[in-house]
Amino acid sequence: MSIHYEVISEEEIICIKDMCDGLMAYQKSKASIHPEWFDNMCFETRLVPSVKGAKANYIVAAKDGDEIVGYAYSNICPKRTYSGGFATLEPVDFFDFDSVENEDVGCLSQFFIKENYRGSGIGSVLFDKSMEWLNSFKRISDRFIFVSNGNEGALRFYQHKGFRISHEILNGFIIVMRNTRPCFQPE
Ligand SMILES: CC(C)(COP(=O)(O)OP(=O)(O)OC[C@H]1O[C@@H](n2cnc3c(N)ncnc32)[C@H](O)[C@@H]1OP(=O)(O)O)[C@@H](O)C(=O)NCCC(=O)NCCS
Repeated sequence: MSIHYEVISEEEIICIKDMCDGLMAYQKSKASIHPEWFDNMCFETRLVPSVKGAKANYIVAAKDGDEIVGYAYSNICPKRTYSGGFATLEPVDFFDFDSVENEDVGCLSQFFIKENYRGSGIGSVLFDKSMEWLNSFKRISDRFIFVSNGNEGALRFYQHKGFRISHEILNGFIIVMRNTRPCFQPE
């Protein structure tokens, strides 16, 4: 196994369609609260609108030869209009607006490693690259990650990386994780 890492441009995102759909299927398999909500979630309904709606996007893939075996997708979004690609009927408090400095937030939005490639450090490399990109936006005070219910492995992974549980949304369907940048200086 010889893994290398490549940034995927917005024009190339179709190459991670299968991975994105794999992530949705994985999350459905773990969920006990509304697993059926994942039936409408796929590359076309989650990744494409999210990339179009964000102020900035960063997609980095892990490749074994020509095969994509993992990806992480991060973005910068206005905190007040964030939808996370979740088409909800009512407004959802993705963030506690008053506690977030400035108008934009940084999110690690999607993250998936193929099963046979998990547990060998690829996720840590993709995570570090994503945090490095998010940290390059000096106006961003807070990084957020949305973990679907039942995905205990992901919760532990992110806690291990310094994120903490902030709150639940959509009646527990999503657990919001947060990491506030230390020593942040508001503009
Ligand atoms: C979560 C995920 C991205 C982590 O990637 P990975 O390549 O398996 O992680 P790594 O090998 O870099 O592991 C990094 C550390 O996290 C720990 N870790 C990884 N997965 C873990 C899990 N499920 N439970 C607890 N700890 C875990 C490892 O033990 C390792 O610890 P160390 O740094 O002390 O050695 C990957 O397992 C995955 O794709 N899971 C399925 C999809 C998913 O849940 N995505 C997240 C959606 S929010």
